[in-house]
Amino acid sequence: MDKSYVWHPYTQMSDWNRWDNRVIVRGQGFYLVDTSGKKYLDGTASMWCNVWGHGRNEVVEAMREQLKSLQHSTLFGLANESSTRLAEKMVKLAKGMQKVFYTDNGSTAIEAAIKMALQYWLNKGRPEKKEFLSLDHGYHGDTVGAMSLGYIEKFFGAYKPLLAPKVHKLPSPKLYGSGFDSHSALAEQCIEQAENILRKNASRCAALVMESGAQIAGGAVIYPAGYQRQLSELCKKYDVLLILDEIATGFGRLGNMVEYVAQKSSPDIVCFGKALTGGYFPLAVTMATKSVFDAFLGDCSQNKQLYHGHTFTGHPVGCAAALANIELYKKRGLILQIRESGKYIAARLRECKTFDVAADVRHKGMLAGIELASGGKPVLSLRNGEKIGYFVMQESLKRGVHLRSLGNIMMVIPPLAMDMRNLRKLMDTHLEILRKVETSLP
Ligand SMILES: Cc1ncc(COP(=O)(O)O)c(C=O)c1O
Repeated sequence: MDKSYVWHPYTQMSDWNRWDNRVIVRGQGFYLVDTSGKKYLDGTASMWCNVWGHGRNEVVEAMREQLKSLQHSTLFGLANESSTRLAEKMVKLAKGMQKVFYTDNGSTAIEAAIKMALQYWLNKGRPEKKEFLSLDHGYHGDTVGAMSLGYIEKFFGAYKPLLAPKVHKLPSPKLYGSGFDSHSALAEQCIEQAENILRKNASRCAALVMESGAQIAGGAVIYPAGYQRQLSELCKKYDVLLILDEIATGFGRLGNMVEYVAQKSSPDIVCFGKALTGGYFPLAVTMATKSVFDAFLGDCSQNKQLYHGHTFTGHPVGCAAALANIELYKKRGLILQIRESGKYIAARLRECKTFDVAADVRHKGMLAGIELASGGKPVLSLRNGEKIGYFVMQESLKRGVHLRSLGNIMMVIPPLAMDMRNLRKLMDTHLEILRKVETSLP
């Protein structure tokens, strides 16, 4: 039935129809269980959002309780208890932020953020500030504004006529392939180039939009020390808003609950999603400082209000999930656990580095990227012509693990609370696959 009726994301469906597919019917701990009862370790954190694994816990219970009393009620003209309590919690968590705007996925959180930035300047009498800045290799989602910011020709070329704002690109601080031999020298060069671009264009730019702490879809590019802080300072200097995307990196992925605080940077707008609800409910937030929010106040006739909202904005079940999730982080000391798990991952990555094909290994917390290259060229397919992504996925599934690589980059991105026994299995699988890749090169 899946092959007859379902259209899968980012998937060549003629390939899909030839493949054996696994239909997941149940979650059990850190495993997903298919119709034949076979178990797969969730090695992608169900697209980078799962925190606690699968099955019943306090978050699920909180969602059930919320469903008993109020299933959904709109924020258009009404408030609801869970979204109010979550907003208060988020404002305490996200230093410097004052207001929470709710959406139902990461991409729409970004859309809300860029609409806020544009209208902020309009409301302030600066309508000429309507262009944006973003980083090379950045990714912010698949809706039109988000695609414009994180434009990747291969993925989004067909949709170019839809793309709206002019976006100036700043260099990404990816050391591998840059020609620099140290992170600090590269960061210095990136900041210098960023300042040149800002100097020329800032008077027309509304905001710089960038991932906070690391670029994940761009292949686990971890920012060098001081890089994000310096960009944040440049934004202040050149009067450009800073929008930080913590959708994939916030809530502990890099070992910090709120990454921009750890990076000593000061955004004007910040977005969270994915792990916000433990990965159990589609909910995201766009948070703004008082100064951004205040620019939207005025007499109704001035038309300064934010024209954005969705049917499910502030969904009480999602908000109840997020509240319980945040409690569970505290109760189980998850951030400390992540830091310990990160040390284990670092040790196993040292083994990965011994393979010639692992040309670069980048890591922080519960995120790592193993870039595959041979003879200085990315390994995109193997001797038998098989695509590397398909090979990694099939080899992992054979071993009872679900992995998904990004092109030639094998990604380590497990559920945040994964225990040591399962982390060992996950890293063993990466090593076994690396060994097989090395012997199957063209
Ligand atoms: C950094 C970042 N921003 C935004 C998004 C988009 O989120 P969503 O897939 O929930 O729309 C993603 C998704 O992977 C992401 O990694």
